Amino acid sequence: MGTLILGIESSCDDTSAAVIRDRQLLSNVIAGQDVHEKYGGVVPELASRAHQQNIVPVVDRALKEAGISSRDIDAVAFTRGPGLLGSLLVGTSFTKGFTAALGIPMIEVNHLQAHIMVHFIQSSESGAGSPRFPFLCLLVSGGHTQLVVVRDYHTMEILGRTIDDAAGEAFDKCAKLLGLPYPGGPHVDRLAQQGDALRFTFNKPRLAGFDYSFSGLKTSFLYFLRDQLKLDPEFIEKNKADLAASLQHTIIDILLNKLRMAMEHTGIDRVALAGGVSANTGLRSAMEREAEKRDWELFIPPFSFTTDNAAMIAITGYYHFLEGHFASDDITPLARMYF
Ligand code: KG4
Ligand code: ZN
Repeated sequence: MGTLILGIESSCDDTSAAVIRDRQLLSNVIAGQDVHEKYGGVVPELASRAHQQNIVPVVDRALKEAGISSRDIDAVAFTRGPGLLGSLLVGTSFTKGFTAALGIPMIEVNHLQAHIMVHFIQSSESGAGSPRFPFLCLLVSGGHTQLVVVRDYHTMEILGRTIDDAAGEAFDKCAKLLGLPYPGGPHVDRLAQQGDALRFTFNKPRLAGFDYSFSGLKTSFLYFLRDQLKLDPEFIEKNKADLAASLQHTIIDILLNKLRMAMEHTGIDRVALAGGVSANTGLRSAMEREAEKRDWELFIPPFSFTTDNAAMIAITGYYHFLEGHFASDDITPLARMYF
């Protein structure tokens, strides 16, 4: 029969529920929240309220699509953190009530580890199989940018992290300056495909070690636009695609520089991408070129597992289940959480 895990994700602005039988994904339902678009960013109070509206119908659909009943589930895995506290509380409280009613265990999951664990999901979209340990993961999302050494399903070490903005934040903040809707990452990606990536150059950080920094790029982008708009008020409109392409090129360059250093330093030749920004088509093809050139074994997640989803929570929960890692019923969510 296998082990059936229900996964619950509610850390930011997506309410998601997924069912996994061992490593095989049976359903992955995601309800996004359009309410934030007009504010140009996620409004925590509105996010909690939308999770509260969505959580029961989303779980219901995930169970129906998986063709199972709640009584079949062996455990519920939920995102404990990091994330927005009010959002996390919805998923945590739901899990407490649901598991108490069924008399089954809860499993706490770290959202960042879960992004990496998508490489172990089996689904119709999964590609060339899972990476062997150890491998390096470039985890790039809206809230985090990290280089992680993954030793096994539970042991992960952060080699480098951003000291200020995350890569996704750099995409989103610069996209806002270009007048693009939130979140701007996918819009920059789309525009960049028609632009000249070498037309403009922006500041890159000169930071020793494996840490990242993106706030200087954002400032350099802002000042550049301000200067050009003084000369020509139509500058952004006339050059949008080239601006997007040059910005994206700079972000990818910054990401790959440190990754190359980390691969050399660790001597590991297997590398995986994870997190929302790994949906970026420019980053995916730059990684493919780099892997080809340097003989790295590369693992790129299917598009549907890049941004926040509960399939990643369910697969992480499955590996905790095998080890008997269960949460106690007085557990609370954590806005900040490390591994
Ligand atoms: O992993 P995620 O869904 O949420 C966090 O855990 O942060 O990542 C969301 C981020 C946003 O910043 C969004 O703009 C970015 O991922 N993103 C992209 C693309 N798709 C999503 N950035 C660049 N290109 C994309 N195609
Ligand atoms: Zn995420």
